[in-house]
Amino acid sequence: MPIDKHPGHPYFAAVGDRLGRNYLRYEFTKGTDQEIAFLLELLDLPSDARVLDVGCGAGRHAVAFAKAGLSVTGVDVSERLLQVAADAARDAGVAASFFEVDARRMPFEDEFDVVVSICQGGFGLMGDDDSLVLKRMAEAVKPSGRVVVTAFSALYEAKLQRPEAEFDVDSGVVHERSTIKGEDGSEEEVDLWTSVYTPRELRLMAIGVGLIPEEVYSVDPGDFARRPPDLEHAEFLLTARRP
Ligand SMILES: C[S@@+](CC[C@H](N)C(=O)[O-])C[C@H]1O[C@@H](n2cnc3c(N)ncnc32)[C@H](O)[C@@H]1O
Repeated sequence: MPIDKHPGHPYFAAVGDRLGRNYLRYEFTKGTDQEIAFLLELLDLPSDARVLDVGCGAGRHAVAFAKAGLSVTGVDVSERLLQVAADAARDAGVAASFFEVDARRMPFEDEFDVVVSICQGGFGLMGDDDSLVLKRMAEAVKPSGRVVVTAFSALYEAKLQRPEAEFDVDSGVVHERSTIKGEDGSEEEVDLWTSVYTPRELRLMAIGVGLIPEEVYSVDPGDFARRPPDLEHAEFLLTARRP
């Protein structure tokens, strides 16, 4: 079967706009508290730290970071998901800034103590341009600050060989079709392209954008842990430091 190639633009903007609040119905969004507890322990940030959440979506991590007292900026390409994020911050009584900007064009320079992209928030959804997203993240973080990304595991995908997904081994992109439900209840079939990585690729990409890779852990949504890379978990979590 021919592989439908990544379209080369932020295709998820339309998917996110359509999903809106329904994005938060997916099971993989339910482990935010565990993920945030792990990240706060891992990052050990000062109370006045500034956090940038790239591809923040509905703001589940951004709002949780803000609730922990951190100063948070979230960026995304989906106007509707950014509205959902801003509503969540207001409902939680916390201040967080949200901007509609393509992660490949983020204008930040030496501004944040930590820059994260969790659950394929830009990094992992942009095909060949994932490296550009990581470059912009490296520019946005202050010297000695940290960059954290999660990414789907190429090794796990190769092991599963899911019949419903087309894995283009050459590009490292998995193509799937999925039925999503809009806020008005109507359903639509959409294409999704997700990049998959090995720990070695993630480290080399980090080095390529001037970061010093620290750790790569094997994780699942809602099950972040200091676990060495293995074949049993769907995602890797990379931490890297700017020199
Ligand atoms: C799977 S969602 C993850 C959202 C959020 N990080 C979370 O953990 O729930 C991926 C998000 O990345 C955003 N995104 C995709 N491509 C992007 C890009 N080029 N720049 C900024 N955001 C992007 C999407 O709009 C979507 O909100």
